Amino acid sequence: MIIDELRTPIVLAPMAGGPSTPELTAAVSRAGGLGFLAAGYLTAPATAERIAATRALDGGPFGVNLFVPGTPTPVDRYARYLDELGRAFSLGEPKFDTDDWAAKLDLLTADPVPAVSFTFGCPSAQEIERLHAAGSEIWVTVTSVAEARIAREVGADVLVAQGAEAGGHRGTFADRAEDDATDPLTILALVQLLTAAVDLPVVAAGGIATGAGVAAALAAGATAAQLGTAFLDCPEAGTAQVHRDALALDIPTMLTRAFTGRRARGLRNRFMLDHPEAPVAYPEIHYATGPLRAAARASGDADAVNLWAGQAHALAGREPAGELVRRLSEEAKAALEKALSRRIQCY
Ligand SMILES: Cc1cc2nc3c(=O)[nH]c(=O)nc-3n(C[C@H](O)[C@H](O)[C@H](O)COP(=O)(O)O)c2cc1C
Repeated sequence: MIIDELRTPIVLAPMAGGPSTPELTAAVSRAGGLGFLAAGYLTAPATAERIAATRALDGGPFGVNLFVPGTPTPVDRYARYLDELGRAFSLGEPKFDTDDWAAKLDLLTADPVPAVSFTFGCPSAQEIERLHAAGSEIWVTVTSVAEARIAREVGADVLVAQGAEAGGHRGTFADRAEDDATDPLTILALVQLLTAAVDLPVVAAGGIATGAGVAAALAAGATAAQLGTAFLDCPEAGTAQVHRDALALDIPTMLTRAFTGRRARGLRNRFMLDHPEAPVAYPEIHYATGPLRAAARASGDADAVNLWAGQAHALAGREPAGELVRRLSEEAKAALEKALSRRIQCY
């Protein structure tokens, strides 16, 4: 398995919507970790271009990440929210689509990459079989033991355990308003529960931004750690300036559906606070708010942009991604050695 061959157990999270670039992906792989390229929001031809650009940078093996499509939401569930937004902003068309799912699967079957990861759901056993036959490993993002069991059942090779601390969208197989009443599992609890229940390697994601955090995930039973926010301010990332500027500020994160209609964690801002009851309707709300987010990004208005970030955002790196991988690796080694030096007596 690719995860056993890595020189360092650090995985770059796929980050759709701008931050993910071929340069960032290749830099992490070249430094001995595993870079993932985000294909969410991209058409199949655009995905093919990014794969080709990443290969041309010759950083070594990398993976590609896809969004598993959901189902359309009836208009009456989000019409009132869009009416409210429409009074203050100009909106896009609230359309449903599958994010070019079938064409991207065809592309990855015809021109495989070493690993394909999924979020927002679980591919079918047949879809996984096709990608396996093409030679790819399958990684599925899970947020609970129940989701992990489903992923195992259909043939996933690796579980990406996404804790509550994680930046960006929650990778839950379904986004349900009724689940908001219960706390999402945090990464340490989730890794322990998954390693006890399911016999698959676990990659821990969520709130990890230092080598000590990587070490904690490994000590808890993870095979590797997947970091997103920690790489957002690297020079190779395509992160917008307004997003980079906000990362280092002392602002708490919160979960919101206001921007996209799917629960996601970002730096708290006015738009989130103004719309605490935004409905479940992805990707319809994502498309509707596209123009207002783009305008705010262009004008540097941090109050109307989705500033996705995990809870440890203040510790995001600034150095080139390869240097960050090397620093995290050295810090992780030192943290594990320090932990081993603590006395643990067994009677
Ligand atoms: C800006 C941003 C975009 C993200 N986009 C994706 C994505 O396209 N696909 C995916 O599986 N996860 C995505 N995630 C979630 C990451 O895979 C991962 O769970 C998260 O970054 C881990 O938490 P951390 O940000 O605290 O490291 C994104 C996260 C961020 C911060």
